Amino acid sequence: THVVTENCIKCKFTDCVDVCPVDCFREGANFLVIDPDECIDCAVCVPECPANAIFAEEDVPQDQVQFIALNAELSPEFGMINRSKKPLPDADDWNGIPDKLPHLQR
Ligand code: F3S
Repeated sequence: THVVTENCIKCKFTDCVDVCPVDCFREGANFLVIDPDECIDCAVCVPECPANAIFAEEDVPQDQVQFIALNAELSPEFGMINRSKKPLPDADDWNGIPDKLPHLQR
């Protein structure tokens, strides 16, 4: 599966969802996840993310591995999203800021 990692938090650019052939993205208030039961590992979303937040599971950086479980955990709680929308208002300011996990709204 592919995994959305920390840099999506408070950015949520949503470019990723337009290219997903299986509609596997799920949307929270300030973060998206990928449903691991639906993702077919096509990888087309990876270059679409302006925050470089999406990785193949085997390529998730060491300090981001907790996001593999977090995508699986939050997928049933978040709603389906398959059309892009405006990024969050301060997305460009938050892009690249480290340690955003405490800001994740569930
Ligand atoms: Fe998040 Fe990147 Fe998609 S910031 S919403 S994973 S385009």
